[in-house]
Amino acid sequence: MNNPKIGDRFAAYGETYAQSEQLPLRKHLEAPSFLSALGDIDGLSVLDAGCGSGFYARTLVRAGAGTVTGLDPSEGMLAVAEQLERTETDGIAYVLGDLADAGRLGPVDIVTAVYVLPYATSLEHLEAMCRGAAAALRPGGRFVTFAVNPEFARDPDWYAPYGFALHCAHTGQEGEPVTLVSELFDPPLEVGLRRWSRQAHENALRSAAFDDITWTRPTPSAAGLAEMGPEFWAPYTEVPHALILTGRRS
Ligand SMILES: C[S@@+](CC[C@H](N)C(=O)[O-])C[C@H]1O[C@@H](n2cnc3c(N)ncnc32)[C@H](O)[C@@H]1O
Repeated sequence: MNNPKIGDRFAAYGETYAQSEQLPLRKHLEAPSFLSALGDIDGLSVLDAGCGSGFYARTLVRAGAGTVTGLDPSEGMLAVAEQLERTETDGIAYVLGDLADAGRLGPVDIVTAVYVLPYATSLEHLEAMCRGAAAALRPGGRFVTFAVNPEFARDPDWYAPYGFALHCAHTGQEGEPVTLVSELFDPPLEVGLRRWSRQAHENALRSAAFDDITWTRPTPSAAGLAEMGPEFWAPYTEVPHALILTGRRS
């Protein structure tokens, strides 16, 4: 289920993607909400699938994870993650590969995948990714992801204050194409995603032997509220573009 084109698509963005860590949305809403969904990870083993430039791999080590492995099919993204590992020495091992083939890297306590499921190109691919996560987990281990909110705003500029636009024909068709465009990147980032319904996500998780499935809306941290003000966050929290989706391997 390896898709070499994924690597090509992200190759140009490794350097600038790392800079996105400083965006208020990532720093003050996404990351704290994700850590809160993970709960106590002290000493746990984590596989961060679709690690990109390693933002969450580094965040998880610094939040107390025992071992963290980053997995990504993009050589360009991994090159940036590895370069940062050489200077920041968090003890993260980075591996080239696809979430669908992650079983060889387990068993771990937690598999994370932030903005990876939207890159599934078919329902079969979505299931294969979930099966890969399950294969890498110990029984009872958790899969914690950020998925695209299937009910994201119809107005493409709704997310302009947060640095991106989401273009979609809104036909309601399962897996319909969505284009995320961000002018904050150089070159501007333009990636194709798919909109999968809640049901499609849940079916894929259940078919991969996950239960205890939860959806959580992300919320800004106290620091984010103080720094940016509640008005800044209001449109996003009203209609977030992404939701935290978790499952437990039965
Ligand atoms: C939007 S980036 C997110 C990177 C990182 N998780 C973060 O939040 O900073 C999506 C990443 O998913 C990776 N990806 C896409 N399809 C994947 C797959 N099938 N398995 C693992 N990673 C994949 C891409 O190469 C890219 O690095």
